[in-house]
Amino acid sequence: MASELIHRYHDEIRPESNPVSDSDKPLKPQLPIAKPIRYLLNEQRLLFLVIGIVIAALIFTAAKPASYNHRQTDAFQISGLKSYQIENRVGHGGVGSVVRTGGKVPLGLKSKGLRIVVTGGAGFVGSHLVDRLIARGDSVIVVDNFFTGRKENVMHHFGNPRFEMIRHDVVEPILLEVDQIYHLACPASPVHYKFNPVKTIKTNVVGTLNMLGLAKRVGARFLLTSTSEVYGDPLQHPQVETYWGNVNPIGVRSCYDEGKRTAETLTMDYHRGAGVEVRIARIFNTYGPRMCIDDGRVVSNFVAQALRKEPLTVYGDGKQTRSFQYVSDLVEGLMRLMEGEHVGPFNLGNPGEFTMLELAQVVQETIDPNAKIEFRPNTEDDPHKRKPDISKAKEQLGWEPKVPLRKGLPLMVQDFRQRIFGDLKSEDTNTA
Ligand SMILES: NC(=O)c1ccc[n+]([C@@H]2O[C@H](COP(=O)([O-])OP(=O)(O)OC[C@H]3O[C@@H](n4cnc5c(N)ncnc54)[C@H](O)[C@@H]3O)[C@@H](O)[C@H]2O)c1
Repeated sequence: MASELIHRYHDEIRPESNPVSDSDKPLKPQLPIAKPIRYLLNEQRLLFLVIGIVIAALIFTAAKPASYNHRQTDAFQISGLKSYQIENRVGHGGVGSVVRTGGKVPLGLKSKGLRIVVTGGAGFVGSHLVDRLIARGDSVIVVDNFFTGRKENVMHHFGNPRFEMIRHDVVEPILLEVDQIYHLACPASPVHYKFNPVKTIKTNVVGTLNMLGLAKRVGARFLLTSTSEVYGDPLQHPQVETYWGNVNPIGVRSCYDEGKRTAETLTMDYHRGAGVEVRIARIFNTYGPRMCIDDGRVVSNFVAQALRKEPLTVYGDGKQTRSFQYVSDLVEGLMRLMEGEHVGPFNLGNPGEFTMLELAQVVQETIDPNAKIEFRPNTEDDPHKRKPDISKAKEQLGWEPKVPLRKGLPLMVQDFRQRIFGDLKSEDTNTA
């Protein structure tokens, strides 16, 4: 029995196809992979396998996602302005170091316009700028601490999904994902910037530093609204951008003048040292609807006084000159500067020069011909002459103001009339 079992076992392991095994030659040891290889070689199976691999490789290459592209550039078409490209820059590697962020934003998540932050966007100039940006189709975030700004200036945008407002002081850092930063946050009238001079210079220095840091971090383009005050009491007339100014560094206006000069320095240093795309505007006296009514600036003062039937107060002899720019002209200039290729600084102002007495006359003509003029002693460090040379902005931005004082003033008067008498009415109602 045992011998029969052994005999059968030998029969089973002897390969039938091997005729040699039937001979007396000893059996060769078989490799374990020999069988699959023989299987593949039989009946052209190897050929089919190779063809299969090639087809799979072709399909994989064709389906490779576009997000592997190394250069990622978003093109934006801006209505009325030439199309330009914004590269998503990140990193801190200095000038020219451009590191691409991840893949493409999936279709449907990406908005068509730009994402723009406007610091000081609830203020006079800022709110008009916000109106234009929203009308253009951009998404706007207003960052404001409401020191001189008012919610009323932007509340017509509440409920618009492309508008956001954050109560925030720019002296503290903030992180936002944006393409452009218009940095306007700073009290602009002497009454307000002298109210807390240390806070004013902190806003100009620390606030500007924070917003430049943000621009560097997220690769946004940064625009600083500087001022004609950087020329101080100018010894050159009209003022060209190359003029370095005549500023008192220890006077009562220095928190603003020197603050803005430092803000310009910081802006240029971030540009040269960290490759941040920057723009600098030097704004000259601007007027229009939504100005603070009692901010001590000459146009708002005269208009409010004439409407309230109070005498128009002229400081000094009234022969000091100013130029007055309507706010829509300024906003156009700021947007052209931001979209253009030039860093600046650019003077943005209306070169039409008026003495304070001439301005008082225009206000009398527009509001009340019987309004009286009252002379008061001049304030400290009040510059005698201020008139922009705007040749550079004309040539490089194709910009110049369009609205003359006699056309712009009635628009402002309409707004002031409504706010002053509206306010008085509501005060009456409250006290009754
Ligand atoms: N209007 C002009 O004639 C004129 C002239 C030269 C320069 N500028 C510059 O233009 C910008 C806007 O001026 P404006 O006339 O609209 O003044 P504004 O006072 O009406 O607006 C300034 C805005 O900044 C906000 N703000 C102030 N400090 C802030 C802070 N620390 N954090 C956050 N928000 C803050 C205010 O609440 C306000 O909404 C200012 O930078 C100003 O220096 C204006």
